Amino acid sequence: MTPHNHAKPGDYAEAVLLPGDPLRAKWVAETFLKDAKLVNSVRNCLGYTGTWNGKRVSVQATGMGQPSLSIYVHELINVYGLKTLIRIGTCGGLNARVKVRDLIIAQAATTDSTIVKDGFGAFNFAPIADYGLLRSAADKAEEKGMRYHVGNMLSSDIFYHVEPGMAGYGRLPGHGVIGVEMESAALYTLAARFDVKALTVCTMTDCLVTHQEISAEERQTSLKDMVSLCLDVATA
Ligand code: HPA
Repeated sequence: MTPHNHAKPGDYAEAVLLPGDPLRAKWVAETFLKDAKLVNSVRNCLGYTGTWNGKRVSVQATGMGQPSLSIYVHELINVYGLKTLIRIGTCGGLNARVKVRDLIIAQAATTDSTIVKDGFGAFNFAPIADYGLLRSAADKAEEKGMRYHVGNMLSSDIFYHVEPGMAGYGRLPGHGVIGVEMESAALYTLAARFDVKALTVCTMTDCLVTHQEISAEERQTSLKDMVSLCLDVATA
């Protein structure tokens, strides 16, 4: 037990899906998992464990942003012993090639956050996904005929930039950064620090270049496809 998590040792499976939204964690547990049991509800940051195709797996919300995610992820790894952490989220698009509903599988995560700098001194650490999880997610997306892109994701601390639209992203789109969310750089850094596996898969829901946006209906079907893909990867 921690100040943020009242789960007992063994309540979590070794693999977890990490949505930002607590109600999405509940939806994943109720929609996809068998025998799902609530293991954490501190601050309503809900966590569940159940089974998917007979294999034990958990889902735990992280809240929005890298400080919040870092607390949950640090404890899932160091207090509860988790080994495989897959963030499932939505992201903005920074490249017109990526269409709404497409998956972005984050090979690396660029950030404007100081959170990754902690302890690195003069070095710029490059947060990257676990290669095995990345390959598995890309292979399964290919098999299922899903549209996906493997590339560099921006994990920003800022949702509402002073300069609206693309202006807030500077040279990043010109350097292969294709999506923006708020969590993955911290996730990948913690996974590297504690020698566990991590991956982010996001559905692109709003393109900052074309202003295309997903409808509420499309959001639900796309998220379903993404969650079942990630459950397959987590329990492979
Ligand atoms: N930034 C911009 N657009 C987004 C984000 C984000 O973090 N997440 C989903 N759409």
